[in-house]
Amino acid sequence: MSVNKEVKRITTHVLQAMKSKGEKISMLTAYDFSMARILDEAGIDILLVGDSASNVMAGHETTLPITLDQMIYHASSVVRAVKRSLIVVDLPFGSYQGNSTKALASTIKIMKESGAHAIKCEGGVEIEESIRRILSAGVPVMGHLGLTPQSIYKFGTYTVRAKEEEEAKKLLSDAKALEKLGCFAIVLEKIPAKLAKEVAAQLTIPVIGIGAGMHVDGQVLVTHDLMGITKDFQPRFLRRYLELFESMKEAAQQYKADVRSGDFPNEKEQY
Ligand code: KIV
Repeated sequence: MSVNKEVKRITTHVLQAMKSKGEKISMLTAYDFSMARILDEAGIDILLVGDSASNVMAGHETTLPITLDQMIYHASSVVRAVKRSLIVVDLPFGSYQGNSTKALASTIKIMKESGAHAIKCEGGVEIEESIRRILSAGVPVMGHLGLTPQSIYKFGTYTVRAKEEEEAKKLLSDAKALEKLGCFAIVLEKIPAKLAKEVAAQLTIPVIGIGAGMHVDGQVLVTHDLMGITKDFQPRFLRRYLELFESMKEAAQQYKADVRSGDFPNEKEQY
């Protein structure tokens, strides 16, 4: 029987209860209808319409170019597929930093035009005004600390963040500030497992890790990485469950061979 028939819709309250009970939360990215349908039926708790769509779907080098309208296109495709998962949408670069009025307008546009359930934005106290304003409109906010890809040109590289004491202290205090503001969860990306453990222990809201070790309340990965559709991205934290790039390439090669040889279509594959 499909998960959808057995389990009620995931809400931020369900996630909070999962943390309280010590039940781990699963989160994956989704950018389109077909993938979202598979992941929702698989019972993944949170689907993130990540701005990683900029890399994965559009082939950009960074997440910076993706626009608000493009995020809404991806989010509304995901919303049409999903019956159970909580759908969180990334606020894209330039749609919320440094201007809380713009942050609220961007959020309202996403919520109205896509039908998603929550937004995620990158940063700590620097964006507290934007977060406060979005929360005041009744929209759940997920924070994102550690490696924040929208700031890649400030960091210079995609290496592990918060290894030094000063940055680790700032991360912990940002995480507490996000909880105090009212965020319902936080993503921690590519930080030492020991620090992520401390953050998860000190916060009452769920902490979801990517490259942040095992002692957090849940895990998130980019689905195309997990499925082996992206080819060259091989960070230590990634576990590949399939090698779809090769399998799909072989299928396309076989199709080409069948077309060329006249094997496809055969008599049963025509009207
Ligand atoms: O955009 C994204 O896919 C993300 C995850 C890596 C957490 O933010």
